[in-house]
Amino acid sequence: MRVGVVGATGAVGREMLRILEERSFPVDELIPLASERSAGTRVRFQGEDHTVGVLSLDALRGADVALSSCGSTAAKSWIPQAAEAGTVCIDNSSAFRMEPDVALTIPEVNPESLEGRPRIIAVPNCTIITALMAVAPLHRAAGLQSLILSSYQSVSGAGRRGVTELAEQIEKLHGMEEDLAHPDPSALPVGEVFGKTIAYNVVAKVDAFDPETGFTFEEIKIQREARKILSLPELDVAATAVRVPVPVGHSVSIHATFLRPIGPDEARELLSAAPGVEVRDDPANGVYPSPLEAAGRDEVLVGRIRQSPGRPDALLLFSCGDNLRKGAALNAVQIAEHMFATSK
Ligand SMILES: NC(=O)c1ccc[n+]([C@@H]2O[C@H](COP(=O)([O-])OP(=O)(O)OC[C@H]3O[C@@H](n4cnc5c(N)ncnc54)[C@H](OP(=O)(O)O)[C@@H]3O)[C@@H](O)[C@H]2O)c1
Repeated sequence: MRVGVVGATGAVGREMLRILEERSFPVDELIPLASERSAGTRVRFQGEDHTVGVLSLDALRGADVALSSCGSTAAKSWIPQAAEAGTVCIDNSSAFRMEPDVALTIPEVNPESLEGRPRIIAVPNCTIITALMAVAPLHRAAGLQSLILSSYQSVSGAGRRGVTELAEQIEKLHGMEEDLAHPDPSALPVGEVFGKTIAYNVVAKVDAFDPETGFTFEEIKIQREARKILSLPELDVAATAVRVPVPVGHSVSIHATFLRPIGPDEARELLSAAPGVEVRDDPANGVYPSPLEAAGRDEVLVGRIRQSPGRPDALLLFSCGDNLRKGAALNAVQIAEHMFATSK
């Protein structure tokens, strides 16, 4: 197959190449593309260096599938035409997610969205993937009624620049840890990506604020995408998205209510049988998920499963997933496997 990887030099794009290779996706020809900034650089795939080309419709002509992680603005400039020309376009940006004709797919959760072989498929937001991998198996059994999600999102969620900003700030503040009990605000490093100091801090803002609702656009995406993926247009869902100084791995604290009573034992049983989920729930022995344990892994880790006090129909869970893998690149490659029936 001719496979385009658009945004091949980015945080998600590099992971995409690794996953295509790991899963032996049948790539006969790789077309790695990015912007003019990194055209001519090389990426490694199947033991060989490949030269990165500049994104254009010409470069993608004849591609069977294009795996896109080049951001919304760039995605809008080529995906509709490439899809029209016959390429299956699987996009990690938010550009097309809420369009009615576009599939928004987590293969373990709503594979039926791929019926009819849509030409444009959107990968959902990485935080909602991490949450719904834990919630969907419970929803299928007990009927989801409401969701309150609080996310702890890693800096790689903001791409390569996010990781660099955290690393630079940690270096600047190293040795000043005691001073941070009484920080001099003017001496704290602040970067362009996060807008507040991210090292030794948490920032309750991911994406811009919507002046009308007070939510951030990330929180609004989480709310809307949950409804679309689960086909529950009236789902009561509210999110708070927070950036934390973690390199890779998003975590989500989940409060879910259901149409019938459901307890932690049943939830553990359902989640243990769910593909792509690993239950890590033995707190007495120190077993519960953390983002560092989820980084580099395909499975979403779920634990801290508790009954909400006084609510036999409500559960609390904590879920961690690799935002670059299941939150983006792996989910995209799984969609391609599904579409081209290549999964083993
Ligand atoms: N990071 C995550 O955890 C995550 C998870 C889910 C979804 N996503 C989404 O995936 C996309 C990429 O995220 P990322 O974290 O990988 O960002 P990133 O590290 O900043 O990488 C962006 C990639 O897109 C390329 N690009 C940017 N503008 C382009 C243009 N005009 N034409 C062609 N290529 C262009 C860049 O190429 P150059 O090297 O030439 O600049 C780079 O390869 C975004 O839409 C993001 O929202 C990210």
